[in-house]
Amino acid sequence: MTETQKHIIAADGDVVLRNLLDADLEKMCAYANNDKVSINLTDAFPNPFTMEDAKNFKKMVDSQNPVTFFAIQYRGDYVGNISLSPGVDVYRKSAEIGYFIGQPFWNQGITTQAVHLITEWGFRHLDIMRIFTGIFEFNKASQRVLEKCGFEKEGIFRKSIFKNDTFFDEIRFAKIKVE
Ligand SMILES: CC(C)(COP(=O)(O)OP(=O)(O)OC[C@H]1O[C@@H](n2cnc3c(N)ncnc32)[C@H](O)[C@@H]1OP(=O)(O)O)[C@@H](O)C(=O)NCCC(=O)NCCS
Repeated sequence: MTETQKHIIAADGDVVLRNLLDADLEKMCAYANNDKVSINLTDAFPNPFTMEDAKNFKKMVDSQNPVTFFAIQYRGDYVGNISLSPGVDVYRKSAEIGYFIGQPFWNQGITTQAVHLITEWGFRHLDIMRIFTGIFEFNKASQRVLEKCGFEKEGIFRKSIFKNDTFFDEIRFAKIKVE
């Protein structure tokens, strides 16, 4: 078993989800340091995104227990991140999903496959009933990914996003565990 194989949590053909490795950081930095990526993410992914940001991000992930951020690997290479973060208190049976992949890999079905994988993994391994996320209103590709993965649109949180000095609506999507 290779070093990378030890870290796999889910896999299906060309798409693999695994723990983040130090070897991913240069590519993470290159893919996250892109206006077209950061415009869709929270300010936890700043723009510009530097190697220092990537290292701090990995340090944060290494301190997590349980880990909630993973790498998306496509045909053997790191292409992006995906996360599944359980809530607390009365929200402890829900988990929020998040993801991005590098622009060179867009529109090849990679994120759809990654979301399928982490959703199945989450419902099987985490004690959760619901997986949800909030998408910025203009992010049609991400909304489409969620629809393809069986998520349902639940509602609109009006003007809840304040990004780059502008208010945007957030579209909430969720998927409930089939028992
Ligand atoms: C959103 C994102 C994750 C999508 O990843 P991806 O791997 O390209 O997604 P997929 O290829 O699996 O699916 C994309 C779907 O969106 C569609 N799509 C792409 N751009 C679109 C647009 N402008 N309007 C409508 N649909 C669009 C594609 O046609 C495809 O649907 P189809 O299979 O029915 O044709 C990727 O673009 C990304 O990382 N963006 C920046 C970060 C981000 O938005 N993260 C999500 C935050 S919630």
